Amino acid sequence: MHGSALKAPAIDRPEDHLSGLDFQRLARLVEGEAGIKLPPAKRLMVEGRLRKRLRALGFDGFGDYCALLSSQDGLARELIHLIDAVTTNKTDFFREPEHFDFLIDTMVPSVLARRAERQPLVKLWSAASSNGAEAFTIAMVLAELAAKRNDFRFAILGTDISTAVLAQAQRAIYPAEMITPVPVDLQARFLMQSRRPGARREVRMVPELRRLVSFSRLNLMDETYPYDRDVDIVFLRNVLIYFEKQDQAAVVRRLVGHLRPGGYLVLGHSESMIGTSVAVRQVAPAVFQKL
Ligand SMILES: C[S@@+](CC[C@H](N)C(=O)[O-])C[C@H]1O[C@@H](n2cnc3c(N)ncnc32)[C@H](O)[C@@H]1O
Repeated sequence: MHGSALKAPAIDRPEDHLSGLDFQRLARLVEGEAGIKLPPAKRLMVEGRLRKRLRALGFDGFGDYCALLSSQDGLARELIHLIDAVTTNKTDFFREPEHFDFLIDTMVPSVLARRAERQPLVKLWSAASSNGAEAFTIAMVLAELAAKRNDFRFAILGTDISTAVLAQAQRAIYPAEMITPVPVDLQARFLMQSRRPGARREVRMVPELRRLVSFSRLNLMDETYPYDRDVDIVFLRNVLIYFEKQDQAAVVRRLVGHLRPGGYLVLGHSESMIGTSVAVRQVAPAVFQKL
């Protein structure tokens, strides 16, 4: 044993875990607020994600945390953080890249063909934006297209329920590893490299792009969305999968209500519109045009 001290095995206490009943209550709370389904199979995942939150609050176990959630005052303060912890925010630049080719080859030209004004403003909405990688991918490809065509302007809104990812989106600062999928010419044009010696390498979107993209918090479960109703293109990718069928249908119906006729709704490749009764036609994989 070379004289090294034996480490005492960590004692697993009941309060280190969410009881079945507490998990059920928490899952009901999360689904009621954010529409996110948390089946029993997700219990370990939720426990893992909440442990960091317990430490931040200085709590000794899940019992304290559940007590906090069961007081009205505690719940009002904690709900935002609980939602932040249980949302899955995985995203990438140029995720499902065919959509960005279709955006510049078909969607934007078709939207512009319907507009009579000179230099119309094309409005886009990344409706589950996570940290902004999707919104800034759209911004990069459209900035290139706008410079080439010189006949339109654009603005992008990113919304998400998680305040943690929105804070990153607003800073527009990303770890350098995240930009691998960004073509090198776009990297050179739109990304600034951090030069802080010794710090982790990071990049930041140039101010010229940041000015075109804004972010705010929106819960897609809300009955109404306080945004413009003349949006040209909505990206709603990789979020419906977390919702029940009837919530999926309601979200799609509300978002299509914000589109201009002829506008587009883009879903994730694994998502479908089955069960939703909105007046759209499918024009490409996971891309729908409002009639
Ligand atoms: C997996 S990410 C998808 C990000 C991006 N659209 C993409 O495809 O890369 C799903 C995002 O949906 C957000 N989300 C989950 N439920 C939501 C709700 N009820 N309202 C708004 N956003 C929600 C999560 O916070 C998360 O950032």
